[in-house]
Amino acid sequence: MENSEKKLRSTEWFGKRDKMGFIYRSWMKNQGLPDHEFDGRPVIGICNTWSELTPCNAHFREIAERVKRGVYEAGGFPLEFPVTSLGETLMRPTAMLYRNLASMDVEESIRANPLDGVILLAGCDKTTPSTLMGAVSVDIPTLVVSGGPMLNGKYQGRDIGSGTDVWKFSDDLRTGKITLKDFMLAENCMSRSSGHCMTMGTASTMACMVESLGMTLPGGAAIPAVDARRKILAHMAGIRIVEMVREDLRPSQILTREAFENAIMVNAAVGGSTNFIIHLLAIAGRVGIELELEDFDRIGSHIPFLVNLMPSGKFLMEDFYYAGGVPVVMKELGERLHLDVKTINGLTHRQNIEDAVCYNREVIFPIENPILEHGGTAVVKGNLCSNGAVIKPSAATPALMQHRGRAVVFESIEDYHARIDDPDLDIDETCVMVLKGVGPRGYPGMPEVGNMALPKKLLAQGVTDMVRISDGRMSGTAFGTVFLHVSPESAIGGTLALVQNGDMIEVDVANRHLHLDISEDELAARRELWVAPPPHTDRGYVGLYCRHVQQAHQGADMDYLVGNSGSAVPRDSH
Ligand code: FES
Ligand code: MG
Repeated sequence: MENSEKKLRSTEWFGKRDKMGFIYRSWMKNQGLPDHEFDGRPVIGICNTWSELTPCNAHFREIAERVKRGVYEAGGFPLEFPVTSLGETLMRPTAMLYRNLASMDVEESIRANPLDGVILLAGCDKTTPSTLMGAVSVDIPTLVVSGGPMLNGKYQGRDIGSGTDVWKFSDDLRTGKITLKDFMLAENCMSRSSGHCMTMGTASTMACMVESLGMTLPGGAAIPAVDARRKILAHMAGIRIVEMVREDLRPSQILTREAFENAIMVNAAVGGSTNFIIHLLAIAGRVGIELELEDFDRIGSHIPFLVNLMPSGKFLMEDFYYAGGVPVVMKELGERLHLDVKTINGLTHRQNIEDAVCYNREVIFPIENPILEHGGTAVVKGNLCSNGAVIKPSAATPALMQHRGRAVVFESIEDYHARIDDPDLDIDETCVMVLKGVGPRGYPGMPEVGNMALPKKLLAQGVTDMVRISDGRMSGTAFGTVFLHVSPESAIGGTLALVQNGDMIEVDVANRHLHLDISEDELAARRELWVAPPPHTDRGYVGLYCRHVQQAHQGADMDYLVGNSGSAVPRDSH
């Protein structure tokens, strides 16, 4: 038997010589597995978020096959299993509502089964944090293989980006700048290959996060889904996870405070999604690393913004890969990062990025001459958000980052849709659009509606941006002067719930301030009259979610999922 140094979990199943061993092995053999697969070699779970309902992950069966080749080659025994797959585009009210549910599925599936190591196949936005949150709650050797971005969208001779151009086309259609026919044609041109959104949206952000955390093979984030090198990456990951089991290299050894700080800095440099904050906080909570909202500002906002990708810039993930990808960004950041921390390949970032070369300075800017001196996310506070709110300056309009304007309040997303294009709506470009009821508990699930489209009549006048505030999120592909993640949210009685039409609101990003300019007495009087909305439901997962979800500044994980339960082998089943 191999691995005499350390007894593997799987031997508690397959190594038994009694009735239970018979049960654990015999049924598995109906798949045509020879005896030697059960001889104590590392059993590797391939946790697959494949689903035809998650188009961004629909090519994962082939990636799983490539991982298997690598596992077999290294002397391991691969077993693929499905978990809840979260598709960003189809799931309603929002895939985010189910992130914590999927994480529980992953965690319990790993712990309950004879697995010694696990490969997480993730791509579409929530599939990365959900699988990682689940796996780190078990803490067996874990390696992430992302599915890769789609090829660049190509439309009428130019590149178009997932999400980012949808918001633009949609505004153009509403104001009559393009025809419905052209609008429909763009659908085919945008999503034209396997893979996830190829802007620096949340999926690409998550892939970069995983690489900067040291949880995937170096260079893995940006390879297009259909590039043969992604298959090679999957194959190599299969080899490496078997070695990791032999080395007993677990996530808790990789995911140190320094690793999280690296991820925050890299995210700032690549212009990553605001959703990064919520997911990284939730992952840190599982690992037991102290991380708070202010850390993202403290650590990230001094980092220069280097990567010229939509939505903050011009290019797309394919270009980012050809330019050199995350290793080049890390090399540019240099000693700002903690380069001596270990990554899953057993080497440090310093060793991994040694040979990185930039092949296109229009895509990845040098640190001496960045796109912007300060990237990252600003965390603002004030009476409107005592636990914070966030804004992505690289995607905002500089002139609006210090602003005082009259609130135009929407009590719900339905209220917004009903009135936004009403010609009589009392609104101009100096107003501040306020949306309530879209936080974790309020919607429920904190949907990506914070980047409310502007009123048609203002778009027609050429207005391109306005200050917007909500307790929701926005798509990583979106842009604008949008304050998000207001905490506490309106549904639990945060000050946001008390804002009324005509109130004056002050925003001052440089001073990290967001203020509702009404008197304390008036605020107290309104609070007195405030009535909490009724719960959406008491039943089932959604009921559980609404009772236990934490606020945005805590990562919107369930209170009872913070921490982890380890990999102890449960009792026998029969
Ligand atoms: Fe799946 Fe964007 S919709 S990654
Ligand atoms: Mg999204």
